[in-house]
Amino acid sequence: MTTLAEYLEACRLEIDAALESALPRPPACPAVVADAMRYSVTAGGKRLRPVLCLASAEAVGGTRADAMPAACALELIHTYSLIHDDLPAMDNDTMRRGRPTLHVVAGEGMAILAGDGLLTEAFALLAREAPAADPVLARRTLRVIGVVATAAGAIGMVGGQALDLACVTADPEGRLAPPLDADGLRVMHAKKTGALIRASAVAGAIMGGGTEQHIDAIEIAATDLGLAFQIIDDVLDVEGSSADLGKTAGKDAAAGKPTYPALYGVARSRQMAAEGLERARAALDTASLADSRLLQIGRWIVERGN
Ligand code: IPE
Ligand code: IPE
Ligand code: MG
Ligand code: MG
Ligand code: MG
Repeated sequence: MTTLAEYLEACRLEIDAALESALPRPPACPAVVADAMRYSVTAGGKRLRPVLCLASAEAVGGTRADAMPAACALELIHTYSLIHDDLPAMDNDTMRRGRPTLHVVAGEGMAILAGDGLLTEAFALLAREAPAADPVLARRTLRVIGVVATAAGAIGMVGGQALDLACVTADPEGRLAPPLDADGLRVMHAKKTGALIRASAVAGAIMGGGTEQHIDAIEIAATDLGLAFQIIDDVLDVEGSSADLGKTAGKDAAAGKPTYPALYGVARSRQMAAEGLERARAALDTASLADSRLLQIGRWIVERGN
């Protein structure tokens, strides 16, 4: 078996090439918004969600090619979420993926539209790539569209981002939402970040032709990994440097965000992420999937430095 680093690099090359050909371009798409979308998608990033999608497909015996449209759709949606997350009306960040944020270079309006374009294009891509000549893949794709849309929408990521925003933004009457308790914080993180990560793994398992037992086990494992991912994102905001992260460090405490380190401290937060990884291992084990790349990716999620 190749090392995880080699696997990630092989996936990244395939994903970046597929994303490149998936992005809308002139003359059909006006250059001004095509350029804005490309700026954020090609800035790099870990490509965790598409990698998880591809690895899940392979874990259940499918091919990376079958899962690639879903993998690209997930990265387009993730990139849209970053663009909107960074807007002045949300986290007001000026650095992302080692570059100035899109609204800094293209203006707020264009950043909003580029995000809208990426979100919508994700579903256009899935619909376009569902091979009419292959009813099995077409049926899997339809199921994936539902999974991904639910995860990205108001009961998933959008809902989680709304909870996050409500914690730091007063309503028209000047009231802030009450501080989150442990359950509230877990739910917010599970939605704003966990939902799309879970959907990435589930989408891969579906496209790869996994059994319902495979899909269930992967869904349970990826739920824990998704939460662990955001716990570590919070920890890195405290412990990491802006240079390593490619985004401004230390901003959560400055903005008064509810985070795992704020509620539990850094050491306990790391421990909770590690416990999530162990639960993920147990879930994968129930479907004999603990030997797959998925667990290695889980370890990367918990041990990463950016
Ligand atoms: C950052 O996600 C935003 C969160 C959901 C925590 P990533 O850390 O995966 O960002 P990229 O894709 O590597 O830039
Ligand atoms: C963002 O969470 C979650 C998204 C849905 C984009 P954060 O606000 O903590 O992400 P970063 O730290 O800016 O990447
Ligand atoms: Mg945010
Ligand atoms: Mg943010
Ligand atoms: Mg963060």
